[in-house]
Amino acid sequence: MSRIVYVNGEYLPEEEGRISIFDRGFLFADGVYEVSAVLKGRLVDNQAHLIRLHRSLTELNIPQPLSDDDIIAAQNRLITQNNLEEGMVYLQITRGPADRDFAFPDNPEPTVILFTQQHALIDSPLVERGITIRTVEDMRWKRRDIKTVGLLAPSMAKQIALEAGADDAWMVEDGYVTEGTSNNAFIITHDNVVRTRQLSNLILHGITRAAILRLAQREPITIEETPFTREDAYGAKEAFITSATAFALSVVEIDGHSIGDAKPGPLVRRLRELYIDTALGE
Ligand code: PDD
Repeated sequence: MSRIVYVNGEYLPEEEGRISIFDRGFLFADGVYEVSAVLKGRLVDNQAHLIRLHRSLTELNIPQPLSDDDIIAAQNRLITQNNLEEGMVYLQITRGPADRDFAFPDNPEPTVILFTQQHALIDSPLVERGITIRTVEDMRWKRRDIKTVGLLAPSMAKQIALEAGADDAWMVEDGYVTEGTSNNAFIITHDNVVRTRQLSNLILHGITRAAILRLAQREPITIEETPFTREDAYGAKEAFITSATAFALSVVEIDGHSIGDAKPGPLVRRLRELYIDTALGE
């Protein structure tokens, strides 16, 4: 069934959405994006995604082509026109079309596209099963705090994991886990310490990560934002990922090592429940 998509101010059937072959998003991955979850037809934590979008654009010196109000109006119009109850809205802004040159164009005309995808987020089958992880070398650039569309390295990492029979990859640099291919990585130790890597240019500053760390403060657990190794992860009591679309999702096996009893554990369940309740209550 054809969706309505947004392309530079127009709402079109997806088959009619067109951008230039000279778009710098296409030629140089010169663009940024955001994924906001939708539950019961409403955007989840969208303001935080828009704040990160501004930051990504500013870091790359791409002019912000639309006001927040215009972006929110476009997101909501697509949700309505596509009857989206649960899933996500994708938003991408590139520096726009320009004759191919490594230098940035003087007067960029950014390209803005949005589309929706329907997904069962709350009742994903992965919630009961938990996911399995393979660790791989982190081959990405050094500005992972900018949410760019340059996603080939994590895409390759995910493919390596899938071909090894796992659900996703955790990327490792200098012996420490950075993050998942499209999510932040966490472990919970046997003395109930939630560990996740501290914010820096080496990971994306996840919006869901921040929300989960806020919610975790309500529970009888300690939070430590420090890097952890593969071996730390193999010996964890529980492990999980966070992202806009995964919320908090249990990891039950890493590189063939069972985490706990290889079933989703109670602390992650609790954090997921708290996150969903908060999201629905917004
Ligand atoms: N990915 N780390 C990376 C590398 C990511 O790509 C993402 C999000 C996250 C989690 O961030 P947040 O909680 O703000 O979604 C962490 C999105 C969902 C994607 O690319 O589809």
